[in-house]
Amino acid sequence: MKPKVFITRPMPEAVVQRLAADCQVESHSEDTSLTEEELTRVLSEHHIEGLLLAGARVTARVLNAAPELRVVANAGVGYDNVDVAACSARRIPVTNTGGVLEETTADLAFALLLAVARRVVEGDGAIRHGDWKQWSWSLLWGSDIHHQTLGIYGLGNIGRALARRARGFSMRILYHSRHRVDPGVEHEMGAEFVGQETLLRESDFLSLHFPLTPETHHRIGKAELALMKRSAFLINTARGNVVDEQALVEALEAGRLAGAGLDVFEHEPRVHPALLKLPNVVLTPHVGSATAATRFKMASLAAENMLAALQGRRPPNVVNPEIYG
Ligand code: DGY
Repeated sequence: MKPKVFITRPMPEAVVQRLAADCQVESHSEDTSLTEEELTRVLSEHHIEGLLLAGARVTARVLNAAPELRVVANAGVGYDNVDVAACSARRIPVTNTGGVLEETTADLAFALLLAVARRVVEGDGAIRHGDWKQWSWSLLWGSDIHHQTLGIYGLGNIGRALARRARGFSMRILYHSRHRVDPGVEHEMGAEFVGQETLLRESDFLSLHFPLTPETHHRIGKAELALMKRSAFLINTARGNVVDEQALVEALEAGRLAGAGLDVFEHEPRVHPALLKLPNVVLTPHVGSATAATRFKMASLAAENMLAALQGRRPPNVVNPEIYG
């Protein structure tokens, strides 16, 4: 009998077909998040063994209702939506899609950096609203990007991809990470390791690239923002909760920070109302990895991970390897 799998969002047909060759596939037909209640019901009533997850939360309660579940394959690199400890306690592998979305996410981080520094959205708005009457010497002065200092907080794959882009703009690159990377990698990236305080004090642009964990919740708060230059910009394509959004709003409103480019928010899809009013903030709706090519690769890799686990193999992207002893 083929194992039963459930996909929480519509996925590319080719990926569904690939799964259907080896599994009985059921899917949520809408591109909306299933509630804990809905996911619990599906998993328990349909005896699901494999879960291909995008956006929904797998809590201990969901897991308790799914005694047959054998794998949680997350279609995303961040897995803060999954109670990994509870999965590990059941020896359920949790997988992510690291390795296929880093370049695309770095593209968006750099796009936000460029847009907020050069006031692209304000310029677009001025034209659309008929406010542009003539060429003007003093119109929409922005901030230079080239030869400025980029601080990368977290030099994992996305941070490194961002560093490569920044080199093309002749930026000075500083980074801070839990662990200092190999000197060969530092040399290749042209990145200098510094402590958190130096990173905050010296960056003209600070871009965040570390995962959300209980330790990194509100890592950038009032005290950290106060160390940044008044002329600096904060870029966040990681997770909303790594920044204290209220503290960020206060810093922006008080002119203690030049601007921000944000793809992620503390209470998605709700955005702090003050952010919506600030012209020096560029907002995108959590679309870091949203290109057709990358979403296809993410779906394919999540399916590959799920099949591996269901077939008794170790999935390529397991995030809780301790379950394999
Ligand atoms: C990721 O890959 O973590 C993206 O944020 C999508 O959830």
